[in-house]
Amino acid sequence: MISENFTLAISQRYDELSGQECCLSCGGAINYADIKPGFRCADLGSGKGYDVMKMATMAGEEGFAWGVDVSESMMETARENARKLNLKNTDFIKSELEDIKLDNNTLDVVLSNCTINHSLNQGKVWKEIYRTLKPGGVFVVSDIFAMEKVPAAFRNNPHYVAECWAGAVTRNEYFKNLEKAGFKKVEILEESAPYEKGKIKVCSFTIKGNKPF
Ligand SMILES: C[S@@+](CC[C@H](N)C(=O)[O-])C[C@H]1O[C@@H](n2cnc3c(N)ncnc32)[C@H](O)[C@@H]1O
Repeated sequence: MISENFTLAISQRYDELSGQECCLSCGGAINYADIKPGFRCADLGSGKGYDVMKMATMAGEEGFAWGVDVSESMMETARENARKLNLKNTDFIKSELEDIKLDNNTLDVVLSNCTINHSLNQGKVWKEIYRTLKPGGVFVVSDIFAMEKVPAAFRNNPHYVAECWAGAVTRNEYFKNLEKAGFKKVEILEESAPYEKGKIKVCSFTIKGNKPF
């Protein structure tokens, strides 16, 4: 369970954004996820559910796509979007990414766009990704990393973390978390030049890897 203040700030920010016509995303992880009919997939931090709906359509009737998010209003918007498309193979789970309410070895694909940086315990999130993927399963994640360790005064501020920047870890820490979770080879599909976000410098990247067999 991440600290309640942080969960509250994140839920409040995204509850407010759930009714607005804004783009929440910083990456295109879905473009690299080769989703085949019958696949079981999850999007971590699924927001309005757009990527869940794309995955469900690609996975077809034999497959399934879950959205995982802490914001109840985002999930309501996502459920309504899935209903409009008459998709029967989706579900939206209210869950923190540090404790994903899915069984071990369930997923062929884990996707996540611009969300893992909100977590104060990213090592735990990566362990959850490893646990829920089937052996051989693939993750494709778009996220940001910080050019330098984020000062505690920013990192301990729930509002700055909810704004998608103060929770960022350095590139080195990011890859250590992946390695500690058990992911051996990680491919960098896209990486931006450094840019200002909030009060720090970050880079965006999209990465892909497999849970070993
Ligand atoms: C920047 S939005 C991205 C939404 C979506 N992936 C997209 O690309 O449009 C981040 C989403 O992650 C959710 N979120 C943030 N931290 C989370 C956490 N620790 N556990 C679960 N969901 C979280 C927010 O509620 C929000 O819907």
